[in-house]
Amino acid sequence: MNNAIILAGGMGKRMHSEKPKVLLEVLGKPMLEWVISACEDADIDNICIVKGYGAEQIDEYLNNRHETAFQPERLGTGHAVMCAAEFLKKNKSGHTFIACGDAPFTDAATIKSAYEHHVNNNAAVTVVTADLDNPHGYGRIIRTDDGISAIVEEKDCSDSQRAIKEISSGCYWFNTEELLGALPKLTRNNAQGEYYLTDTISILLSEGKKACAFKTDNCDAVLGANDRKGLLKLNDIARMRIIEKHLENGVEFVTTDSVVIAPDVVIGASAKILPGTMLMGKTVIGKNSVIGPNSRLTDVTVGENSVLDNVVAACAVVGSNASIGPFVQLRKDTVIKDYAHVGDFVEIKNSTIGEGTAVAHLTYVGDSDVGQNVNFGCGVVTVNYDGTNKARCTIGDNAFIGCNTNLIAPVKIGEAAYTAAGSTVTKDVPDGALAIERSALTIKPDYAKRKLTRHIEKGKRLKH
Ligand code: UD1
Ligand code: CA
Repeated sequence: MNNAIILAGGMGKRMHSEKPKVLLEVLGKPMLEWVISACEDADIDNICIVKGYGAEQIDEYLNNRHETAFQPERLGTGHAVMCAAEFLKKNKSGHTFIACGDAPFTDAATIKSAYEHHVNNNAAVTVVTADLDNPHGYGRIIRTDDGISAIVEEKDCSDSQRAIKEISSGCYWFNTEELLGALPKLTRNNAQGEYYLTDTISILLSEGKKACAFKTDNCDAVLGANDRKGLLKLNDIARMRIIEKHLENGVEFVTTDSVVIAPDVVIGASAKILPGTMLMGKTVIGKNSVIGPNSRLTDVTVGENSVLDNVVAACAVVGSNASIGPFVQLRKDTVIKDYAHVGDFVEIKNSTIGEGTAVAHLTYVGDSDVGQNVNFGCGVVTVNYDGTNKARCTIGDNAFIGCNTNLIAPVKIGEAAYTAAGSTVTKDVPDGALAIERSALTIKPDYAKRKLTRHIEKGKRLKH
């Protein structure tokens, strides 16, 4: 059984945020979640998150998905791991990966390769390292012939040690039993007065155990953010890396300006992503679909050959060959079936729009089940909320909803039924029937002309 401990106790003072640092987002996904995903993708069995500052917010975010340990005060990385000792004791048979919750580019491939290196070398600890042009601020790796002898923190370095370019990523694989044995031996005898996890190396070496280093070529894996500028940099790096991955998969971009794609988004080949588009959460876009310009989709699934132009959508499903927009909002639990058309200034919430149905302009559809090949005239409103309760409308296949119809829910419009323009429909309409609700029209000759005399005069004055 292998474990991961993710260190997430820090506050991130320079972020000036009320959130703990690890909950700040890179491409809409908290840094902590990036690290959790990497550990999950590396098939680690048990994950424990060490929380400290903002622990309640971390609990709320995790919602019991993983075990946590509490670090009551920030006494260093070694102390943070000590706080997870109970977790380790429960799962002490295998190895434990230690990761930093504020290094979002820690990746599954590195975790797995480092594990192989660790196990093949029969090491008690294996540090994940990288060569950096500017190693400032990181712990330096002191190599020996067959492993390493120490990690020296920047503040504790001699001049020659400070010149070393190979640094510790802050991630390690430990033999779990060896880690448990070393933790009680850590002291605060260093420049920062902290329990350094890095000191486990010299402790294990002094006991005749083996310490190794695994150098990753993913130098981004070590990047963290200490301030907003650093966080922006992480966003920039991640944004381009993800767009490049989609380019390799055959996704088309006219420009990458203002295009933001979250890490877990999936896009089919020959789909086209236009400027100003944000694809967030677990959005999935099918082959040949065109998204944008200026669209924001969060947790939306779109089929193939669909077009979404100037659309804001969340938690919705759009089928294939559908055309949505411009200027459309699809809210939670909306399903738009194949070949449907949703046109300008339409909002749809918690509704199903059947195959080939057209909702072309200025319409609100909420809490409704709409069949196939239905036509909505301009300005239809499903009146789904009476101020206390919400109710549903049902519209049968081939129905024709006239312009400016109000459907007062709950109400059912039968198959191939018709509502006359301007009607307020309060009763069910049987299949094939017409519902018309209008008072007699009265025409009063010359009435308006008298009433509008001043208005007409004003218009004449403007012309001269
Ligand atoms: C640490 C390493 C350093 C490495 C660097 C990589 C030590 C002593 N140093 O330094 O060798 O190059 O990471 O980024 O381990 N944390 C807690 N509780 C604490 C202290 C830290 O949970 O008491 C968490 C932080 O939230 C963060 C992680 O541990 O996620 C790393 O802590 P940080 O203070 O950033 O360590 P560094 O000084 O950067
Ligand atoms: Ca750090």
